[in-house]
Amino acid sequence: MSARKGNALVVFGITGDLARRQTFHSLYRLEERGLLDCPVIGVASRELSGEQVRDLARASIEAAETIDEDVFERFARRLSYVSGDFGDEQTYARVAEELGDRDFPVFYLEIPPALFATVVSGLSRADLVSRGQRVVVEKPFGFDLASARELAAELHKYVTEAQIYRIDHFLGKLGLREVLHLHFANTMLEPVWNRNYLSCVQITMAEQVGVEDRGRFYDPVGALRDVVVNHLLQLLATAAMEPPAGPDPDTLKDAKRAVFRAMPDADPRHYVRGQYDGYREIDGVASDSTTETYAALRLEIDNWRWAGVPFFIRTGKQLPVKETELRLVFKRPPRIHFAGVDVRRPDPNQLVFKVDPSTGIRLILDAQRGDRPNEIHLDVDFAKEGGEGATPYEVLFHAALVGDSTEFTRQDNVEESWRIIQPLLDSPPPVHPYAKGSWGPPEGDQLLAGFGGWRGPWVPEQG
Ligand code: BG6
Repeated sequence: MSARKGNALVVFGITGDLARRQTFHSLYRLEERGLLDCPVIGVASRELSGEQVRDLARASIEAAETIDEDVFERFARRLSYVSGDFGDEQTYARVAEELGDRDFPVFYLEIPPALFATVVSGLSRADLVSRGQRVVVEKPFGFDLASARELAAELHKYVTEAQIYRIDHFLGKLGLREVLHLHFANTMLEPVWNRNYLSCVQITMAEQVGVEDRGRFYDPVGALRDVVVNHLLQLLATAAMEPPAGPDPDTLKDAKRAVFRAMPDADPRHYVRGQYDGYREIDGVASDSTTETYAALRLEIDNWRWAGVPFFIRTGKQLPVKETELRLVFKRPPRIHFAGVDVRRPDPNQLVFKVDPSTGIRLILDAQRGDRPNEIHLDVDFAKEGGEGATPYEVLFHAALVGDSTEFTRQDNVEESWRIIQPLLDSPPPVHPYAKGSWGPPEGDQLLAGFGGWRGPWVPEQG
């Protein structure tokens, strides 16, 4: 049965930082592609006129691309604004009034999670969520396992699990869909995607930027909560799952759940934390902060496909490049005796999936090059082979409006993710300093002793 389409989008927190960086621009792009066909109502506490909100929209879109005035005009006509305190019943009455007879809006909460329950209970008292209307919530969903459970219990007082669409914007990235597709749409790849052929899997999410002006948000959070428990575990599950046996969202989520269920709790002895030099001077960061801006860890999946193949994850800010990739490292071949004068053992093959900021695939093989054997790279940059798709927030807004929950996270999987990393939150190892522009502290490399160290990431040449 297909879901009912939303006939309005109500955005709580439309004057915030995320709206400025992502929301307006993504909605504008949906408008441009003819995929936005309902009013957009912003809600926030600031006293602003509709005109001022349209100015905010214009400024944020202009910061991202050159505006097409016709498209902007169409988008601006959809946009209206309700100002009010989220704790005040009147705010919801005004939202209801603005909605008029549009009885199936989608609510999007880009506000601090501490306010989720306030807003959802306000919507419930105004009778705006009693007919299955969807509520999209931004990350983070909880601070640890216990708080994720509490938050869900609070929201479930007013809405069902099926109404809640939790955003993990990585699920809107083409790169993740690409990994799943390549794995199961290619007879050459699927048979080797397991412990019989692989020695380890490496996931790198490197960021060149630092914490910048987000010190107040970031310092109580750190890299593990900011990107590992959500984005990178979703990437891991996408890479490690069995083929979903049907197209419905729950079958896919069940396949991910099977991966998480097979993962033992993370071991703090296989967890390295780093903090870049200068981090403590950032506005909003404690002068004695021990928050990690770099995290490297080893996880296991105890099932028939993966037992004995460690999954190594590393992420950090102020690293040399911006690049996210998944890398399958194969077992090393035996020595070969025919290849030249030296008896030589080739390096392992590697299959690399470039996930972000653009997508591509690289296969590393050993070949005879000129007069000696060497490693060769077979690369395909997908941007040049059919183009890049929509940005994550375009994908997710559109999916929320049409009622496709495939790329949103479900409570049981959120809880499993917290369960897996909870020991790392409970017993964090000391934090090691690292220089800006480096690959993190040397301790992060020792994690891979016996596995040949971190490889990559693959950074395609420009041009
Ligand atoms: C966000 C984190 O969820 O993801 C940020 O809060 C991080 O700290 C960002 O920089 C990375 O997203 P992307 O899409 O730029 O890879």
